Amino acid sequence: MNVDYLVTGGAGFIGCGLAAELMDRLPGAHIVAVDSLHPQIHPESTRPTSLPDPVDLRIMDICDGAAWRGLLRDVRPKTIIHLAAETGTGQSLDLPTRHTHVNVTGTAVMLEALDESGSLPDHILLASSRAVYGEGQWLDPADGCPFLPDQRTPDQQRRGEFDVVAPSGEIATPLMQDHRDTPSRPTSVYGATKLAQEHVLAAWCTARSIPLSVLRLQNVYGVGQSPHNSYTGIIGLFHRVAASGEPIEVYEDGQIGRDFIYIDDVARSVAAAVIDRPAHSRTIDIGTGRATTILEAARLIADLYKAPAPLITGAFRSGDIRWAVCSAEGLEKQLEVAPLIDFAEGNRRLSTWLRDIKIIG
Ligand SMILES: NC(=O)c1ccc[n+]([C@@H]2O[C@H](COP(=O)([O-])OP(=O)(O)OC[C@H]3O[C@@H](n4cnc5c(N)ncnc54)[C@H](O)[C@@H]3O)[C@@H](O)[C@H]2O)c1
Repeated sequence: MNVDYLVTGGAGFIGCGLAAELMDRLPGAHIVAVDSLHPQIHPESTRPTSLPDPVDLRIMDICDGAAWRGLLRDVRPKTIIHLAAETGTGQSLDLPTRHTHVNVTGTAVMLEALDESGSLPDHILLASSRAVYGEGQWLDPADGCPFLPDQRTPDQQRRGEFDVVAPSGEIATPLMQDHRDTPSRPTSVYGATKLAQEHVLAAWCTARSIPLSVLRLQNVYGVGQSPHNSYTGIIGLFHRVAASGEPIEVYEDGQIGRDFIYIDDVARSVAAAVIDRPAHSRTIDIGTGRATTILEAARLIADLYKAPAPLITGAFRSGDIRWAVCSAEGLEKQLEVAPLIDFAEGNRRLSTWLRDIKIIG
């Protein structure tokens, strides 16, 4: 059976949002979702209600070669959208085997099964991550020169030295992450596995003359993100704390910066990237270009629930990067998609949804 889109991890946050967007734009499209219903994300092991009915969900582990061979005897996908992954950035330090196995070996198992099936797709899209950049590039204010800071050590963080310091000794200024000039130097095992996925897929796709789209997503948040997964989705966590009337605890000095992009904008971007097959492989940064500090995010969410002001705790996570923002230029120029939902509106929508599904009172 010919299938328009095979989406690995298709029952996840982005998978469900993407399927809804594709069904909206291409109502007759045939979509197969492959997902293990990972218990950390799907504690009830049931099909998510937000996955549109016409999507054919096959429950399987992407690391299972026999399952892939069985699937590909039945299904010939034109486009593969590879979303299945272990996504806990902090958790990946404690469980590096699990993250590496699913993200890297799982990708390779899929490619081997595709080769064996004798039917290759016309296009593969990988949801990669801003985590591949690590700390990225910064500017030394003393001479205006860019530099690559080292990863901040736990000792520095313990001493409260959270800022990135330039070679001149001044506090450095962050630059936008941009795949054209920001080297990839991940600071987490998760980031390293996402970079490895990119390399494995690039080598295989080049050898098989299949265009590869690598979308490096910034922090995606919004309606549909698993409220059960305590290892990802800081925004959902902030909502739960604020709704309970507690102050949100903010790490470091509150000045960690992130580019939060709403799920609908990501779904529109991924859909745009797969509806028209590209002639060549490409990498695109997916973000809004707007930085929000963790303290700003916590204040906005606390205000939504009239919760007490956030507390800056000075706690930290090893491997957390200080600043991650990318320009929206790639998204706008290469995919002709503009991010539409600002952070305040995205959080209002998330709050309404969390109440509707009774995660908060
Ligand atoms: N959400 C973000 O902020 C973000 C940012 C950057 C990149 N990404 C990438 O986007 C992709 C999707 O992320 P998401 O936010 O939708 O995560 P998610 O956890 O909601 O979805 C991932 C899905 O993959 C499934 N899965 C996990 N291991 C599997 C396995 N071994 N076999 C089959 N299915 C498996 C899970 O059950 C889940 O449904 C991931 O590759 C992630 O690295 C996400």
